[in-house]
Amino acid sequence: MTRKIFWKKSINQLLETGEGDKGLKRVLGTSGLLLMGVGAIIGAGIFILTGIASALYAGPGIILSFVIAGVACLFTALCYAEFASMIPVAGSAYTYSYATLGELFAWIIGWDLILEYLLIVAAVAVGWSGYIVNIFTSLGLNLPQQLINPPGIDGGIINIPAVVIIAGITWLLIRGAKQSSQVNTIIVIIKLAVILLFITIGVNYIHPANYHPFLPYGWSGVFKGAAIIFFAYIGFDAITTAAEEVKNPKKTFPIAILGSLIISSILYIAVSGVLNGIFPYYTYKDTAAPVAYALANLGIQWANIVISIGALCGITSVLLVSFFGQSRVFFAMSRDGLLPEFFSRLHKDFRTPTNGIIVVGIVGSLIAAFLPITELAQLVNIGTLAAFIIVSAAIIILRIQKPDLERPFKTPLVPLVPILAILFCLFLVTELPTITHIRFIVWLAIGLVIYYFYGRKNSLLTGKGN
Ligand code: ALA
Repeated sequence: MTRKIFWKKSINQLLETGEGDKGLKRVLGTSGLLLMGVGAIIGAGIFILTGIASALYAGPGIILSFVIAGVACLFTALCYAEFASMIPVAGSAYTYSYATLGELFAWIIGWDLILEYLLIVAAVAVGWSGYIVNIFTSLGLNLPQQLINPPGIDGGIINIPAVVIIAGITWLLIRGAKQSSQVNTIIVIIKLAVILLFITIGVNYIHPANYHPFLPYGWSGVFKGAAIIFFAYIGFDAITTAAEEVKNPKKTFPIAILGSLIISSILYIAVSGVLNGIFPYYTYKDTAAPVAYALANLGIQWANIVISIGALCGITSVLLVSFFGQSRVFFAMSRDGLLPEFFSRLHKDFRTPTNGIIVVGIVGSLIAAFLPITELAQLVNIGTLAAFIIVSAAIIILRIQKPDLERPFKTPLVPLVPILAILFCLFLVTELPTITHIRFIVWLAIGLVIYYFYGRKNSLLTGKGN
């Protein structure tokens, strides 16, 4: 058995999995996927975390935090692009590790991705709830505190708006990827328009004096800020989970992954630069909506509502893609026998993995209804960084093991680029709080127990299915 858990799927085996009755429908084109990437990336990170991260950690140096986290993601994205174009099958990092590192690592990464996407869904739904409540309040409608907060916060009992948005997204995803992708396109365009509007207006109100001191908390603040706002970049990896629904994955993936990451980085650096130029960094310490807040405080009142609506759109599209990613990871793990077959059963008309989607909807709603988001976001970051490290390492391993495989997109300068990706990500892990490290280890330990009692025995590759 010890040897079996390191068994690997061959690349051909993986490619075959995506064909035939068990495969998903190929409906997504390059622009759809690029927009899906932007949709997955720009959301709660820039609209919520930037203000807090500037005020508490980095000051105006948050711009450098964005550069550091962005560089880590760029190196990793180059690795993801090679895998996504080479193995365009559902499951993303989970599937790649199955081919390179063997089943045990595949399970670990799959379990890790479940944590990542599920908590993003929950955390972002809570952020969505905050913005919708903000809009209602601006319109003079005050919702009861008990129904808009989790227990322990402002007398809350349950966060109903977060549950409602998750229910809505669950319905959309059950209807199928194409429809969801069209909805995504519309909301991404609104989100980008609002960000550009903020930059265009805000740039006229910059006071260079606000950039001094540039590093009020020193470099250590910049690094801690980078570990937090790394959250803002997560998402380019999520689109690789859609590999089986993409029409021409070999061409489409590299463009969509790198393109969406570059667009987002530029916008983040611009937004955080403008934000810190308009008011001093410490102004943002108590606001969960820094972008709307800045414009409202400049006296541009209409902007508060417009920006809030845009943020709501941005956050919605993140929710959509993360949720999509989660259901596809479930789908891939279940198809391999590591999770019950129930999760990979396709709906007979929509050809979507309905059961997995509904389960994610229910669990995500429960987390979002009753838990606050701050610490969830840190767990999301550590889970994602772990996945990035394993994927980057897997690129080097596969180049050595299978140098002749067809690679439509090749990560440049291997092993340098994957090694840099690993080092940058490891560094960001060390900048996260110790409690986050401990929680992550507990989650992995639970996963190993489940693998030992279920996955190992039911795996189609190494268990009874073999
Ligand atoms: N990158 C995503 C966001 O900022 C998770 O909401």
